[in-house]
Amino acid sequence: LFASVELVPGDPILGLTEAYNADSRPDKVNLGVGIYYDEQGRIPLLDCVREVEQKLAADAKPRGYLPIDGLAAYNLATQKLLFGTHSPLLEAGRVATSQTVGGSGALRIGADFLKRALPNAKIAISNPSWENHRVVFGTAGFEVIDYRYYDNDSHGLDFAGMLADLGALEPGTVVLLHACCHNPTGADLSLEQWQQVVALVKDRGLLPFVDIAYQGFDVGTEADATAIRLFGESGIPAFVVASSYSKSFSLYGERVGALSIVAADREEAKRVQSQIKRTIRSNYSSPSTHGGALVAGVLGSDELRARWEQELGGMRERIHALRAGLVSKLAELGAPEFGFIQQQAGMFSYSGLSKAQVDRLRDEFGIYAVGTGRICVAALSQQSLPKVAAAVYAVSRG
Ligand code: LMR
Repeated sequence: LFASVELVPGDPILGLTEAYNADSRPDKVNLGVGIYYDEQGRIPLLDCVREVEQKLAADAKPRGYLPIDGLAAYNLATQKLLFGTHSPLLEAGRVATSQTVGGSGALRIGADFLKRALPNAKIAISNPSWENHRVVFGTAGFEVIDYRYYDNDSHGLDFAGMLADLGALEPGTVVLLHACCHNPTGADLSLEQWQQVVALVKDRGLLPFVDIAYQGFDVGTEADATAIRLFGESGIPAFVVASSYSKSFSLYGERVGALSIVAADREEAKRVQSQIKRTIRSNYSSPSTHGGALVAGVLGSDELRARWEQELGGMRERIHALRAGLVSKLAELGAPEFGFIQQQAGMFSYSGLSKAQVDRLRDEFGIYAVGTGRICVAALSQQSLPKVAAAVYAVSRG
């Protein structure tokens, strides 16, 4: 029956973890997947999350189904975090938010909805972008096109190219934008650059689809939402936000994400939400209970929310220190050209290493990175830094 089913290659990111797990070398290092590890190499369980979890366990409740669009307290807290506590969009009832199965679930539900609402629209994604963006939107039936984003030579943004390509898109095209901590490059827009992009998107009649999976990993939760705030103030009639708490709450496996669609008014938002619910119902019916309750529990308490911001700040500062450490170790070894890594934001760095060099990192040193040269800086530790720097130096010179 399945004789003609083809074997597809492993996922370029999650497939690496499978290969890493199968590697028996004791000093192997996984810089592939975007996960923050602490100095001991563990995925942290945040104190604020532990506290809510203990309260939930002490008062265990039966597990009924959540509503199709998830836990109301979670959706409300998410809206405030993304759009700002006193956002006029929220006050006007223009935002339809649904709890989703991770940020990927938000992207896919959003893609399915847009494909039905705007069947002829194409989507433009940055070149490069997170590998799964192309797959998710392509699978939902979109024609996926690229806009210029990154300049390999300067290791920074190709902002002129980005503006030129966005400016040439057909009106009505969906534009996927990374709000902060661009995955995979770590190259972000400045405030002034965001202002220009928002104005261009508005003038050209494009539909922004903002992906924010790393809120709080560059500057802080407010500053990292700048793109969303600017679109909110711009007066454009609609935009979409896919968000995730996987990283910011260290709740990867709980699959806690959200899809928020900004509509022209309250009535339109209601109709949009009815479509989103239908899309969710036909995919997985409703989200799971536990992760949403943890996030809502933290964000719903002033004290726990403050502790979360502090713990998130600790992760952020440690990533900054690891970036600086990697750059200085490489410079000590005689490779000062990697200084650009310190300018990049978030968990990832586009190292500039080629596929062949990444293969050597894995084969000779047991260090796993994505074939494009993306490394997860947040998976380094002070202990692994010297080994990683020496290996990067070796492959870059060999
Ligand atoms: C990543 O880019 O490594 C993360 O977003 C995890 C994933 O699902 O790919």
